[in-house]
Amino acid sequence: LWLALGIRRRQAGEPVIENGFIPYLGCALQFGANPLQFLRSRQKMYGHIFTCKIAGQYIHFLCDPFSYHSVIRQGRHLDWTKFHFATSVKAFGHDSFDPRHGYTTENLHQTFLKTLQGEALPSLIETMMGHLQDVMLKSDRLSPSEDQWQVDGIFAFCYKVMFEAGYLTLFGKELGEDKCHIRQAAQKALVLNTLENFKEFDKIFPALVAGLPIHVFKSAYSARENLAKTMHAENLSKRHNMSDLISMRMILNDSLSTFNDVSKARTHVALLWASQANTLPATFWSLFYMIRSPDAMKAAQKEVRKVLRDSGLTMNPDEPNMLNLSRDQLDNMPILDSIMKEAMRLSSASLNIRVAKEDFLLHLDNQEAYRIRKDDVIALYPPMVHYDPEIYEDPYEYKFDRFLDEKGQEKTTFYRNGRRLRYFYMPFGSGVTKCPGRFFAVYEIKQFLTLMLSYFDMELLDPAIRVPPLDQSRAGLGILQPTYDVDFRYKRKENH
Ligand code: HEM
Repeated sequence: LWLALGIRRRQAGEPVIENGFIPYLGCALQFGANPLQFLRSRQKMYGHIFTCKIAGQYIHFLCDPFSYHSVIRQGRHLDWTKFHFATSVKAFGHDSFDPRHGYTTENLHQTFLKTLQGEALPSLIETMMGHLQDVMLKSDRLSPSEDQWQVDGIFAFCYKVMFEAGYLTLFGKELGEDKCHIRQAAQKALVLNTLENFKEFDKIFPALVAGLPIHVFKSAYSARENLAKTMHAENLSKRHNMSDLISMRMILNDSLSTFNDVSKARTHVALLWASQANTLPATFWSLFYMIRSPDAMKAAQKEVRKVLRDSGLTMNPDEPNMLNLSRDQLDNMPILDSIMKEAMRLSSASLNIRVAKEDFLLHLDNQEAYRIRKDDVIALYPPMVHYDPEIYEDPYEYKFDRFLDEKGQEKTTFYRNGRRLRYFYMPFGSGVTKCPGRFFAVYEIKQFLTLMLSYFDMELLDPAIRVPPLDQSRAGLGILQPTYDVDFRYKRKENH
């Protein structure tokens, strides 16, 4: 009967199992309603590790941060590719990147490292800075002026600015665009269209990851396919100043894979999503918390002024595209770093997932060991750490300087029970699956904040506004969005 119902029974040496009451779904609804609360209550009952059935899958949740390394240091028993490749196929509809499936021999991980890190960064940073200033200062959609306050939602504003600048940085602009007004308008329309399609598709992303077929969602399906159409090789080849990431992926799609044209285009849609879906809400939370905290604003203003002064730069809002910050300068802004880190600590909710390649024994830090079955999933849920009051005092409070030490530099020592923690901040994941775009992501948000502080005066319409709750429907997938937007007003600083 157990087998017929698809219910697993705990065997000797295995973590405690909770099958839930609903067939197939198991504990999915309770988990989905509030993952942190659910996991904390189970941790109290069962200890550092326990197993829950969620949507047909048995997941071992490991809740002791001192044991994280046994999962993160990629032991020979664990596989990360299986889950990641399968999720991408489900959501974006391209053929599999898993070399074992025979469609491609590209080592995607290597492509990401080569084109998003190290030597690839300076040109990404420079291009992004140009686009950010174009959008912020020249765009008629934002119409920033010196004598009139503009009112907008902070999320809506971040969306417009970061989406366009990030999209153009990765995918380039259409050739000839700068010279001709009609082309310029067409380029603008393309960006707007891409943004609308992205939003439409992104809305149902959690459902796709949960396993629902995209055909159930007619408008999201056509949105995804519209995005893919703009990313067919013949359209991409009309664009210039494209990032190494996309141009290299085009070459490798052609030379190492048997993907057809649609599949190739959909792999680019996947990268558009990866580059935007977390960055947009992360930018929102960083800007929102910064504006909301007068101390954070003051400290950030001071830091930005100092960096600009030390490098002999002056801001001239009448002459956009003049401000350029090198990687070194951006690396030297610990206050902005802390402002962003604290915002992401409070809003990130990504699940870190590994799949067991075979039956094996998982050793925990407290000397206990548990039997794990082949194909089982082991998950870490970083909010368990991010909201732990023993690690972060008053964990629900935003403290802009939480990640600064006494000398005002990056703080890297956090403790639990008097023991120093190795894993205390994980919005970008961990180990081999750590986000390959994380350096660029931090730079681009920092550039955005720097420019906002340099060019605009800004304030909340309601300075006492409450922090909007996190939209838990996306829990597990990364930085959560606010359930509603918050209005602010901004105007160009007067040019002294
Ligand atoms: C994967 C977070 C921005 C490219 C991931 C993962 C997380 C993450 C949690 C999954 C890691 C895992 O499964 O363990 C973030 C956050 C961002 C951000 C919080 C912004 C604040 C970006 C940007 C890019 C990017 C700007 C590219 C320009 C990628 C790619 C992957 C990924 C390509 C898939 C890697 C793989 O499967 O090998 N990101 N990300 N991300 N991210 Fe980011």
